[in-house]
Amino acid sequence: MERPILLVIGQEEAFFVAPKIYREQIEMLGFPGRFYGDEEDPYEKLSLRKGATLAVDHDLWAYFLLNITSRFNPLRVSGAGEVMREVRKVKEEWEIEVMREGVKIAERSLWRFIPMIKEGMEEVYLSRKLEELMIEEGGEGSSFTPIVTSGPNTSMPHLRSTRRKVKLGEPLVVDFGLKLRGYSTDTTRTFALGEPDEEFLEVYNVVREAQESAITAVGEGVRAMDVDRAARLVISSSGYGEFFIHRTGHGVGIDVHEDPYISQVNAEELISNEVFTVEPGIYLPNKFGVRIEDMILVKGREGLSFNSFTKELIVL
Ligand code: CO
Repeated sequence: MERPILLVIGQEEAFFVAPKIYREQIEMLGFPGRFYGDEEDPYEKLSLRKGATLAVDHDLWAYFLLNITSRFNPLRVSGAGEVMREVRKVKEEWEIEVMREGVKIAERSLWRFIPMIKEGMEEVYLSRKLEELMIEEGGEGSSFTPIVTSGPNTSMPHLRSTRRKVKLGEPLVVDFGLKLRGYSTDTTRTFALGEPDEEFLEVYNVVREAQESAITAVGEGVRAMDVDRAARLVISSSGYGEFFIHRTGHGVGIDVHEDPYISQVNAEELISNEVFTVEPGIYLPNKFGVRIEDMILVKGREGLSFNSFTKELIVL
């Protein structure tokens, strides 16, 4: 919001600072709040002492922080991101159950969605349709606007759906997720609309093998970079190394993207009850892209997938 809603955690007390319009919502949480009207200065409600140390998380707007530091100068400011990432990356059982349930709902929606895809429909229309299905099936909304891309658009991993009409003989990438009780899900499948050509089939199988290899590599004590390496090895040895242009995965929780990051440079060791995606892809510019993404739970020596949706290529 353009007006700050801050959760302030001090040594003796914790409270929200929020506009008056949030009073009822915050009181429903059973949490103390200090509420301000439009005529008041919200930052005065922080009651910070001179010389205090303030640790702020990564999502605090720079604009709010500048207002705080200019009023309470000198103030020592540090990042609380490191604390927050440690707290959030290992999930509790109830959080895992919520996300597992979320993935089930997402997959039911995807099964209902794919028979609806017809030649000539626009990507944005399909994206909207999938969002509706997730809500019908029990989700509380999407965790991000579903990415439904077709044909050459599929070679851009994060392209938003456009008004392009899907055509026979082209691939379709569907990357989507929902929100359930504050938690996110994230899943991708690549489909073929009509019979695909040889090159697409080859790329599809390489990505599928890379994904399986990376999931097999997951286990407690394994370095995140070694999971990335497992996927990358399959793709490079098939000659597509330069077309795998992103990291293998990312943690999922309250945010769709959070720690741990499954990248080439992350040497941290995986811990049981971390949840992250494994989503290698190959993107041939101006041609097509393929990505397959599951959500994986680290459990002892294994990586268990929340997903059960088939990875056999479905030809629509
Ligand atoms: Co993802």
